[in-house]
Formats: sequence, structure tokens, C-alpha cells
Amino acid sequence: MDLICKKFYITEQTNVVQQTVNDIYSKVLKINEDLKTSACCTKETIPENVREILKDIHPEVLSKYYGCGSPVPLALKGKTVLDLGSGSGRDCFILSKLVGPNGKVIGVDMTDEQLEVANSYISYHMDRFGYDKPNVIFKKGYIEDLQSTGIEDESIDIVISNCVLNLSTDKGKVFSEIFRVLKPGGELYFSDVFSGSRIPESLVKDPILFGECLSGAMYVEDFRRLLTSLGYPEYRTLSSRKIDLKNSGFKQKIGMIDFHSITIRIFKIPLEDRCENYGQIAIYKGNLDESPDSFVLDDNHVFKTNEPVPVCGNTSAILQKTRYAEYFNVVGDPSVHYGLFKCSSESKRDCCSLMKYKYIIN
Ligand SMILES: C[S@@+](CC[C@H](N)C(=O)[O-])C[C@H]1O[C@@H](n2cnc3c(N)ncnc32)[C@H](O)[C@@H]1O
Repeated sequence: MDLICKKFYITEQTNVVQQTVNDIYSKVLKINEDLKTSACCTKETIPENVREILKDIHPEVLSKYYGCGSPVPLALKGKTVLDLGSGSGRDCFILSKLVGPNGKVIGVDMTDEQLEVANSYISYHMDRFGYDKPNVIFKKGYIEDLQSTGIEDESIDIVISNCVLNLSTDKGKVFSEIFRVLKPGGELYFSDVFSGSRIPESLVKDPILFGECLSGAMYVEDFRRLLTSLGYPEYRTLSSRKIDLKNSGFKQKIGMIDFHSITIRIFKIPLEDRCENYGQIAIYKGNLDESPDSFVLDDNHVFKTNEPVPVCGNTSAILQKTRYAEYFNVVGDPSVHYGLFKCSSESKRDCCSLMKYKYIIN
């Protein structure tokens, strides 16, 4: 196929898939119980502060929630947060409360029906949270082209997304756009469906499997390769849950592939591809209101308040070059190198890279 034909074919295929996904989220699904698998359905433990806010979210918004995790990080006050594929707005309204009246939340979605529901409850949530003006805005657009929605370079502190990136036919563009709009030191924090192996083309073309957030799932190793190609050699895993396919027809079609809903964070800072040891120690000051006893960076790093913890160069950079810097003291001279960082005496590999393989090993 020559280049022009190939481009036309890809664009055609993209349009067909986007139309199918649009139909599913506008016409087929009315409430989350209409889903046939547990892929788009949070089973993850919801943090206490988020559970409290959920009591204020309108029941219709909750009934049209199709997320697969709880991608809500800490330290959001006053920040600008972008939600990719915001749907009926549940996570945007949670974030609206957490960023406070001086923060800002932008939701982007391509489906009119979802945007209509979200827009119709902006003033309801303003009243609930006691705000005089809205701090949430919903924009119609594609997550592959945030430029067209007017989102400027380096304008966003945190990008979140809940069970959406798997639905994109051009994940490279989505991640490029995310890193374009994030400020230096910004954070991508998202929950999505990942697979333990590559999904055969015939299954990718199945509209129901695609719409149920299964056959567009990223194979974890290809996801890592994609990030590396964009200049981001490491990511951190917060949690991972195996997806129950429930439906026996689905099990027969796609049951040989294992699917996980994973919550991941990635920082827009230069990092190394391995954990190197510079003899540094990090101490969490306990000054985050939502988490006075400890701070969870990922499934391998829980910092108890005031406890000195040896950290690798990458963790040290994350704790010094992002919005978390004000919550940590990091000591040690980064110009002196001691070789690869070892997490524990049993571990032959470095702890942060090790996490990339943990999901496969488990
Ligand atoms: C599984 S739902 C998740 C919605 C929301 N995040 C939630 O947790 O309820 C997927 C959403 O992503 C939107 N979507 C899918 N592909 C998209 C794309 N390429 N650009 C913009 N929105 C997209 C759909 O319209 C739908 O609202």
C-alpha cells in the first residue's frame, strides 16, 4: 500500500472506530449496568476523601459513569486539571471540589450525549460545593487533537483519564498531546485497560469488544516502548486489578488474553531508564492534609511521615521537580554515583523498572 492509500485507510478505519465508540456511548449504553464486562466499572478502592465527595455527585452523573479506576491524585488545590474522555463528568466534578474555587478543571469528550449530561449538572455541583462561579468546563473534541480544543502548550498541571485511552486508534498522538499540554514537572495520572499480550487484528475490529474497552487495550510492553520513544523511559504503577470478562461469549472470543485495569502515573521530567543510586534519602513531612500519616508514590514506595527512606535518582527527581517537592526533604549529593539502586537485598533489579514487569509476573 503506498503512503497516501495507507494514510487514507488509517483515517477511514479511525473514523469507523470513532463512530462505533460514539454510538456506544450515545445510543447503546444508558447506564453503567448495561456494560457486559467489568472492564469499565471501578472495583478499585476509592480513597476516603473521594468517597466523601461522591455523596455530592448527582445520581444521573453517577449512573452514566464508565470508569475503570480512581485516577485522582493528591495535592490538587489551585491546580489546572484536564480529564481526557470526561464522559458524563463524574471525575471532573470530583476534581472541581478538590482543586477548590481557584483551580480549574477541563473535560474533553467527543460524544454530544455525554457532554450534554455533564454540562447540565455544572450549576448543581457549583451549588453543592458553594462556588459562585464554575471552575469546570466541558469541551467537545478528540483526545488525539487537543490543539483544536484550544488547549495550549504547557498549560496543564495534571492530566487524568479514566478508561478512555484504550478507545483511541492513535495512542501515539494521544500521548504526544498529553506531554505537549503538560507543564514541565506536570503529572499524567490515569486508569486504563491493559493486556498481557498483543490483541489479534480480527478482535480489534470487533466493535462490541472495542466499545467494552477490551480489544483496544494496550499491551503493557508496547505501552512502555511508546513512552520510551516519546522520551519517558519509566512510569509508576499505583494499582492493578484483573478484569472479569463475565460474559461467556466474550470469554470464548477473547478469554485467552488477560486484561488488567491499571492506575499509572508518569511525570513530565527527565528521568533515567534504570534506577541509579546517588546515596539519597527522602523524608515525607506529613504536611498533605489528605494524607498526614504517609504518602503513597506507587505500589513500591510508601513514605511514612518523618521516616528517612533511601531513594534512587528517579524517585529523588520526582520528589524534587514536581508539585510534591513542598512535601519532601531530599538529602544527599546527586553528583556522586554508587551504581544501580537496589530496592532490597533480595532484589537483583532496580525497584522502579521492576514495577514494569510486576504485572506480567503476578
Ligand atoms: C468508557 S467511557 C469513560 C467516560 C468517563 N471517563 C467515565 O469515567 O465515566 C469513554 C469515554 O471516552 C470518550 N471517547 C472515546 N474515544 C474518544 C476520543 N478519541 N476523543 C474524545 N473522547 C473519546 C467517549 O465518548 C466516552 O465518553
